[in-house]
Amino acid sequence: MVNNEKGYGEYLFSKYYEKLEGPDSHASSHWSDYSSSFRVDFKEGETLALEGFGFGDMQERSLPNRWLARLCNFSYFIRDPHRKEKKELLRIGKELAVEMDGYFSFDCFRQVYSFDLIMKQLKNLNIGDNPRILIIGDGFGFLSCLIKKVIPGARIILVDLGKTLFFQYYYSGKVFPDAGLLGVSSNGEKLSVRDIEEKDFIFCPADLTDALEELEIDVAVNIHSMQEMTYDSISGYFTLLRKIMAENSFFYCCNREKKELVGGEVIEFDNYPWDKEDKILLDGYCPWCTYFFSTAKTKYGAKVMGIRIPFVNYFDGPIRHRVAILKKN
Ligand SMILES: C[S@@+](CC[C@H](N)C(=O)[O-])C[C@H]1O[C@@H](n2cnc3c(N)ncnc32)[C@H](O)[C@@H]1O
Repeated sequence: MVNNEKGYGEYLFSKYYEKLEGPDSHASSHWSDYSSSFRVDFKEGETLALEGFGFGDMQERSLPNRWLARLCNFSYFIRDPHRKEKKELLRIGKELAVEMDGYFSFDCFRQVYSFDLIMKQLKNLNIGDNPRILIIGDGFGFLSCLIKKVIPGARIILVDLGKTLFFQYYYSGKVFPDAGLLGVSSNGEKLSVRDIEEKDFIFCPADLTDALEELEIDVAVNIHSMQEMTYDSISGYFTLLRKIMAENSFFYCCNREKKELVGGEVIEFDNYPWDKEDKILLDGYCPWCTYFFSTAKTKYGAKVMGIRIPFVNYFDGPIRHRVAILKKN
């Protein structure tokens, strides 16, 4: 494991950008394709350039799309009968997006809403000030940083493909320069609860998740991510979660009901390895993931009298979310 910030950046950059030939073995066709467009420049411990693709619109530069996102966020917010309760979280999220060199995009907005729901579920658990929260597939790391802002004592474990994990490593370090971090860096390593006790962020590449098998986790989160994985990866994560989730802890899963990836694989929410003994606390379509505004025209969108309303796009299929207490292995 690597305990120092620059050392872990070097490790991720060298292994997943400099030396990795071809796609990550844990990447689906979707991520093999998308991750080839990432641009990362890292020299002597400094990140000189960082441009992601396909995991969030925080870095969107086009002014029309930025304004459309504002309008879109407002359109969800204004129709929310509980909007007053979310104002403070939205304020924190907006400031955070700027700290992360981005803007408060629709992707940030919907993650604030998901976190609000997670917080409400958390209040039912008596887990103190240092919850251990595992986030699988956090893109830029917006949700991880948001959680850390709101629950400073949280221990956040981030799991992602090595290439994307570099972004989470970079932005969490930028927003929390004094944070204690730990990075998994070799096969066969096993982290104990004690190893992560004093840490703020713990990074684990998707190919090294065996290292997490001896941990105990209070909350696990996966948003818009399993929908783009192979079933092998999804089932690996479910096995891990069933092993490491503390009693009564929950998994928040928000993903497309059905998605066809560029390689032709079709990934369905109902085909994840749920168990009939999992305790489902909430299940349904995610109310803050139904449409988005963009200058790009997607296949489906809102219509009036059969005519598409400009800029109002639907996702290519409905998005489900579920809070579940997973049956232990
Ligand atoms: C569309 S992005 C979603 C980012 C963020 N959760 C959000 O809601 O905006 C999908 C994320 O899943 C990650 N991902 C893809 N395959 C993965 C795998 N096998 N294991 C872990 N993360 C993976 C991607 O790298 C990316 O961070």
